[in-house]
Amino acid sequence: PVLILLGPPGAGKGTQARMLEEQFGLVQLSTGDLLRAAVAAGTEAGKQAKAVMEAGELVSDDIVIAILRDRLAEPDCANGVILDGFPRTTVQAEALDSLLAESGQKIDAAISLDVDDAAMVERISGRFTCGNCGEGYHDTFKAPTTKGVCDKCQGTDFKRRADDNAETVAARLDAYHAQTSPLIAFYLAQGALARVDAMGAINDIASDLGAIVKKAT
Ligand code: AP5
Ligand code: ZN
Repeated sequence: PVLILLGPPGAGKGTQARMLEEQFGLVQLSTGDLLRAAVAAGTEAGKQAKAVMEAGELVSDDIVIAILRDRLAEPDCANGVILDGFPRTTVQAEALDSLLAESGQKIDAAISLDVDDAAMVERISGRFTCGNCGEGYHDTFKAPTTKGVCDKCQGTDFKRRADDNAETVAARLDAYHAQTSPLIAFYLAQGALARVDAMGAINDIASDLGAIVKKAT
């Protein structure tokens, strides 16, 4: 199956994608994670993406589509994927449709996580992740059970993202409203859209999503 998680920065796409990954044996593909890895590795794409990401703007469609296409072709994706943060523009959505059509696949569900702007800023400003296994946390909403120790891997090295500051978050929100939110109508027209109220607790949202995924696949 191919599932898409749509939603503004901080909506919980990464958090929920990781839970669905465990529950359904799918692979999470986050273009944000792939781009951050490219920046860290200093690849040509990474060099071009770095300043754009720090400004909270969208990386060019060419770069993102190429990165996604390569990752999607890897063997572990054969059982199904959850796209987290891709597509983000109509050009990307159309490229994805053609890419999937080449292998006789289609989108099973595009799920929009609906939250209000104030909640997003709060979620993003408290966010941190395990530097070892990538598990996501929040100062208030999802703190590790033992302070300073990762629940999943017992790692003690945590990191915060360079683009999680108030100024960049505002730019990311603007980019979402201007360039990504039109995809809600795009997938509605395809008959693939589902919407989830993502203002509640992490586990409640996970069970709503689980039900949608079961029905769609
Ligand atoms: P990306 O990495 O995709 O970031 P984003 O879209 O801004 O999304 P976030 O990762 O900030 O939020 P999330 O929805 O995953 O929330 P999370 O689960 O972490 O993109 C970064 C940049 O890369 C972009 O700005 C752009 O430059 C570039 N880029 C990436 N993809 C691109 C593309 N396709 N095209 C062009 N450019 C691209 O949750 C947030 C926090 O809240 C966490 O701390 C979590 O613990 C907490 N939380 C989660 N759910 C809840 C809840 N229900 N209640 C309370 N707290 C919660
Ligand atoms: Zn960990």
